[in-house]
Amino acid sequence: MNDRSFVAAQDFLLSAKTFWTTTLYGAVRDSYADKASSSQDEASASVEAVAEALEDTTLYQFYAWLERHLQRMKYAGRYGLVSYHDERRAAFLDSLDQIESEGRLLELNENLDLPAYYTGVDIHQHPGGVWSDALAGIVYERGARTTTPLLGAAGKDVHERFTDVALGDGAPKTVLDMGCGFGKSTQPFYRRLPDSRIEAVDLAAPCIKLAAGMAQKAQAKNVRFRQMNASNTDYASGSFDLVTSTMVLHELPPKTIGEFLDEAFRVLSPGGRMVNLDFYSLPDAFRRFIHHGHARRNNEPYMGPLAEMDLSALLKSKGFVDVEIVPFKESDDIDLEANESWRFPWTVIAATKPDGCTS
Ligand SMILES: C[S@@+](CC[C@H](N)C(=O)[O-])C[C@H]1O[C@@H](n2cnc3c(N)ncnc32)[C@H](O)[C@@H]1O
Repeated sequence: MNDRSFVAAQDFLLSAKTFWTTTLYGAVRDSYADKASSSQDEASASVEAVAEALEDTTLYQFYAWLERHLQRMKYAGRYGLVSYHDERRAAFLDSLDQIESEGRLLELNENLDLPAYYTGVDIHQHPGGVWSDALAGIVYERGARTTTPLLGAAGKDVHERFTDVALGDGAPKTVLDMGCGFGKSTQPFYRRLPDSRIEAVDLAAPCIKLAAGMAQKAQAKNVRFRQMNASNTDYASGSFDLVTSTMVLHELPPKTIGEFLDEAFRVLSPGGRMVNLDFYSLPDAFRRFIHHGHARRNNEPYMGPLAEMDLSALLKSKGFVDVEIVPFKESDDIDLEANESWRFPWTVIAATKPDGCTS
C-alpha cells in the first residue's frame, strides 16, 4: 500500500468518525429525548429504560455498528494502521533499536509477567494489544491522534490541561506516572519540571521504547521509563510527592484497581497527592447507556465496571483523604451540561495520603 492510499483511507475514517461523533450521536440523543418525553421523565430514567427505547431502532443500530467498525478499520484490514506499519517494519524497528541503546532513559524487563486481564483482550480493538508486537507503540501513537476527532490539533492538549490540574501551583520534586503508554502523559511533567525527577512505568515494552525515544529527542535529562506493573513497583515507600495516571484505571479490572490504589498510596510521601484522569462521571442514564455500549463495542471490558464503582468510598477505605472527583473539561469549547456531541466522561480523581502517615 502506498502512503497516499493509506492517508486517504485514514482521512475518510476520520471524517466518518466526526460525522458519528456529532451528527449521528445528536440524532440518537434527540430520538431518545422524543421517546422519553412521551413516556416518562428523562431525568429519572434507568439505563434499562434507555436500552428499551433505543436498542431496536435502526438509528441506534447504525450508530453502534459505525462505532465498532470505524475503530476496527482504523487498525485492521488493508488500509489499517497495523498493515501500514507492518509493510515498513524494518525501517520502524531500526528507529526503535537506536532508542534501546540509550539505557539512561529506559529500563526494560523481559521477564516481567504480564497479567491475564491485560493479555486476554485486544484493548480498544488494537490487534494484539499495545504490548505484543514490537511496533505496537508506534501504531498506538498514530491511532491515538484521532481517538477524539473534535479535539484535533486546535487548543490546549488534554495532557497539558491535566498537568495544569495535577500540578496546581506546586512543583513536586518527585513524580510517578503510572501506566505512561508511549509517554504522552509524561511529557508535560518532564518538560515543565526540569529540576524534578520524573519516573514513568508501563507494562508495554513497545510503548515505553517509543516514550524514551521522544524524551531522547527532547533532550530530557530528568525522566526514566521503566517496564513495570504499576500495581506492584519496586519503589521504596514514600518515594513520590505526586503520583499520576491518565486513562489507566478504566483498563484495569476492579481488583487490580484496588491494588493500583494501594501501590499509589504506598509510594506517596506523607502529604503527597495522587491525581488520575479517567472516564467516570456520568450525569444521566442516557450517557451511562452510551458509555456502557462504547465499552462493549470498543473491547474495553473494565470500562463499565469502573463507571459503576464507588470510587470515593474505595479511596477513603484505602486511607486517602481530601478525595476529589470532578468532571474534567478536555477543551475550552466543551459545555459539560450541553451533551452536544459524543465525548468521554473525562473525570479527575484525586486524593491525598495524610500527613504523618508512614505506612
Ligand atoms: C490508554 S493507555 C494510557 C497511556 C498514557 N497514560 C496516556 O495517557 O497516553 C493505558 C496504558 O496503561 C497500561 N497498563 C495497563 N495495565 C497496567 C499495569 N498494571 N501497570 C502498568 N501499566 C499498565 C497499558 O499498557 C497502556 O499503555
